[in-house]
Amino acid sequence: MARKKKKAIRKSSKRRKEKIRAKRVTTIAPKEEIKKELKISAIEEGTVIDHIPTDATFKVVEILDLENQKGIVSIATNLQSKKIGKKAIIKVGGKSLTQDEVNKIAIIAPDATVNIIKNYNVKEKIKVKTPDVIDNVVKCSNPVCITNNEQVSTKFYVAKKDHLKIKCHYCERSMGKDDIEII
Ligand code: CTP
Ligand code: ZN
Repeated sequence: MARKKKKAIRKSSKRRKEKIRAKRVTTIAPKEEIKKELKISAIEEGTVIDHIPTDATFKVVEILDLENQKGIVSIATNLQSKKIGKKAIIKVGGKSLTQDEVNKIAIIAPDATVNIIKNYNVKEKIKVKTPDVIDNVVKCSNPVCITNNEQVSTKFYVAKKDHLKIKCHYCERSMGKDDIEII
């Protein structure tokens, strides 16, 4: 009987310990704003792409081939933005973008800003511009289009820039933002 009681006490003290441990974890968890700060901390050298629509976040990652980037890459999405509601920011340490990469970003993130960072300062701020013609960047969604069947580069005309609408030069297929697949 005494042993049973001891066991019961041991059990309940064990439970108490577990509870205390769980509580400690919640008290040391960082506050929301600290977590956010950690995710998007400043960079010393490189490029910050700001004001990206959230649904274009991972398309930008793809365009810049960030999977194979050697430097620090920070991706923060679903952040509050006064300009576009919700936005994403991507920070790439030690990388400058080519004109081709900027042009590609402009297609899927027309409000994006590309900031060039040198020695912790914003050295240059480039507002991307949706081009009038898109060469060899977007795949045509029409399976019988010549560009999907022969060695022909794709070419689209931009019909509408705000709610992106593009038209294939070859098959005249119209495509919207959601149909766009980057080559
Ligand atoms: N930034 C950074 N590292 C630095 C300097 C700036 O990551 N050393 C980032 C900022 O966090 C911001 C972006 O680069 O997301 C542009 O910086 P800045 O022009 O200072 O910010 P804003 O004035 O808010 O930019 P905008 O007017 O384009 O909204
Ligand atoms: Zn086509």
